[in-house]
Amino acid sequence: MLQLSFDVFSPSDVNTPLSVALLCFGEDATKMAAFKRLDEITGGALLRAVTLRGFKGSYGQNLSVLAPVEQIAQVQLIGCKTTNEFNLSESYLMEEVGGAALRALEKSSLAGTQGVIVLPEGMAAHAADVALGARLTSYHFTKYLSEKQKPGVFDTLSIALSTEEEVETALSRWAELEAVGDGVLLTRDLVNEPSNVLYPESFKNRIEALRDLGLEIEVLDQTQMEALGFGALLGVAQGSEREPYTVIMRYQGAASAQEAPLAFVGKGVTFDSGGISIKPAAGMDEMKNDMGGAATVVGVMSTLARRKAEVNAVGVVGLVENMVSGKAQRPGDIVKSYSGQTIEVLNTDAEGRLVLADLLAYTRKTYAPSFMINLATLTGAIVVALGAEHAGLFSNHDRLAQALEDAGKEVGEKLWRMPMGSAYNRQLDSDIADVKNIGGRPGSAILAAEFLKRFVGDTPWAHLDIAGTAWLDKESALARRGATGFGVQLLDRFVQDHETQN
Ligand code: BES
Ligand code: ZN
Ligand code: ZN
Repeated sequence: MLQLSFDVFSPSDVNTPLSVALLCFGEDATKMAAFKRLDEITGGALLRAVTLRGFKGSYGQNLSVLAPVEQIAQVQLIGCKTTNEFNLSESYLMEEVGGAALRALEKSSLAGTQGVIVLPEGMAAHAADVALGARLTSYHFTKYLSEKQKPGVFDTLSIALSTEEEVETALSRWAELEAVGDGVLLTRDLVNEPSNVLYPESFKNRIEALRDLGLEIEVLDQTQMEALGFGALLGVAQGSEREPYTVIMRYQGAASAQEAPLAFVGKGVTFDSGGISIKPAAGMDEMKNDMGGAATVVGVMSTLARRKAEVNAVGVVGLVENMVSGKAQRPGDIVKSYSGQTIEVLNTDAEGRLVLADLLAYTRKTYAPSFMINLATLTGAIVVALGAEHAGLFSNHDRLAQALEDAGKEVGEKLWRMPMGSAYNRQLDSDIADVKNIGGRPGSAILAAEFLKRFVGDTPWAHLDIAGTAWLDKESALARRGATGFGVQLLDRFVQDHETQN
């Protein structure tokens, strides 16, 4: 994992050759003191290169100078000049700059050099965001690559500032953002893990390992869930050889232990074959990431504990595997959920909502949360509707929905609010049970949300359908192909906004 440090820039002090990325802000990058200094050290190579190339430092424009002097292996000039000033509340812009700097440095992969990102003077307030972006971008799931296949990347990266005071400023924000980065990378690790390694029991074990952070962890096993009446969740799990678990993480950070918690609820289907309503073979491997909602809940709970957030929060995840076997649930089966409502299971592939139905009703009853937010890779339909740019937001509470949308904009994890309504909800009426788990195909992301709504009562609730954003088949701003960790930054920012209001 990338080790980060914040230092005053002093290129002459080092023995290892440096790989330097200089972030270029302002009208004319060559006017920055940091530029002048580096240009001096490199005997004017930077200014010559800038002039030759006509480098203006616009956002997205980079210029690379190789081996200008012996102790500097490369200088990457990273254009950051935008039409409007960077706004600290929109921290994702600076994260992206950090990501771009790291990518530029890694692209030329100069073995044995030490990475440095130089921030021009006066930018210290943004240094931690740059560091977070670099750290997230450097992440690569290399666990199953043999030693010789592992890509050569930096082990350490220094974020260089102008003065000791600037280093102090950067470090105070980093104290919080480091915890955010830890949460995002934990989520990515969980989502990238294949289903033969991460199944309900091993997932539960990984969560239990977080006790040391100060999370109180309670596990409900199959027998306990049977006694509680989790008929909907258990119906999904019954076709699998793997025992299901519900895991509850509690974090108490508010001044009063009595204050109602914020609740985060996650779909943790460690593999979704579709069950008897089996999925097509093509792309089925992707269903190892159908526990993305649960992984995000675990990630954000770990972040809250690490940064000692001043809130009470509870995270609840349902861990099951949706498989085909002689014991598997059949289409047409009727199960009784924890809420008491009976459900006609017309399609065993619409299993996430069955898991969440029991978790939402249980969380509401047990913890009486002030808000309940669930995350799930719930429908293919949301991928069709919104692609990878927005996750679907469904809510019964306008203020909560707005707060989530705002937090998403600030951290660059965007949400798009989708409509709900009783005309949709009626499509889930069954004539032989209280509700059926699918309606028609049109609007099926909305129908899934309407199904969940039947289990949340009057608790202010939001459902984030992250099927299109939790996993990407291509590189994105801050991640390689694979898990993105989408939602951790968003929920952490939502909690921060909540903390400052209280
Ligand atoms: N896990 C899937 C949803 C999904 C699809 C996530 C693609 C990520 C990418 C979910 O359990 C599912 O199978 N949903 C069905 C519901 C349908 C049967 C009503 C779907 O979306 O097709
Ligand atoms: Zn499914
Ligand atoms: Zn699923």
